[in-house]
Amino acid sequence: MAKGSELRKLTTRSIRERKQTHEKIAALTAYDYVSAKLLDASGIDIILVGDSLSNVFQGNTTTLPVTIDEMIYHTKAVQKGVQRALLVTDMPFLSYQITVEDAVRNCGRVMKETGADAVKLEGGSAIIDVVRRVTEIGIPVMGHLGLTPQSINVFGTYKVRGTQADEQKQIIDDAQRLEEAGVFSIVLEKIPAALAKQVTEHVSVPTIGIGAGPDCDGQILVINDMLGLTEEFHPRFIRRYADLGKLIRERVKQYVDDVRSAKFPDKNESY
Ligand code: KIV
Repeated sequence: MAKGSELRKLTTRSIRERKQTHEKIAALTAYDYVSAKLLDASGIDIILVGDSLSNVFQGNTTTLPVTIDEMIYHTKAVQKGVQRALLVTDMPFLSYQITVEDAVRNCGRVMKETGADAVKLEGGSAIIDVVRRVTEIGIPVMGHLGLTPQSINVFGTYKVRGTQADEQKQIIDDAQRLEEAGVFSIVLEKIPAALAKQVTEHVSVPTIGIGAGPDCDGQILVINDMLGLTEEFHPRFIRRYADLGKLIRERVKQYVDDVRSAKFPDKNESY
């Protein structure tokens, strides 16, 4: 890497080039300005304003309720904290599935109003025309295959996808069709590592895995999960890099005790 290049803004092109250079892509989600600024300063390559916002920020049980206005609100806040990372926003459920025209309008609105660098769309064959048209008019698209949470009501379970031969074939076909339609990368969520490896070998754009094993071109996690803020959620693919839930509870309890026992504020903390 050239000196100072770590400060250069990443683009969809530089992310695509990682496929050739074999430099793994590190991605995380963010939903607010402060977290985005911290992630960006830590050298993260991609920040995704995921529609997991619905679960981890709004407290919903699925990603379905989050609206386009809410995605825009959070992406605008995140964007202010990002200097280097590529900023991608999830298009929420029903904002791109109705018609191509509708999808173009909504993706365009997100790009115009937020300063995001790209959008992410879930699905394969069902959204190929949308992906083609949206990229044609200049909006980069990240694909998302495997366990696509917007389809949870069809799947009926958050279990691993792609364990059967027909679905494995479908996922590989979808990845190739998404590539042909113009995506610059593809998220692979909760599929067997061997299948993710096969997909990664079958496409020339980077794959970014979450619960998809070590052979993807990059990895993504939900920030609240990897920092231990979603304490009740324990899928095996999450590595806990911190236990912030415990830390926050302990420190807030300490504060409550200090206030109640009149230990806070002291003389030095007063005017
Ligand atoms: O919404 C989200 O956070 C995502 C990631 C899990 C990839 O789509």
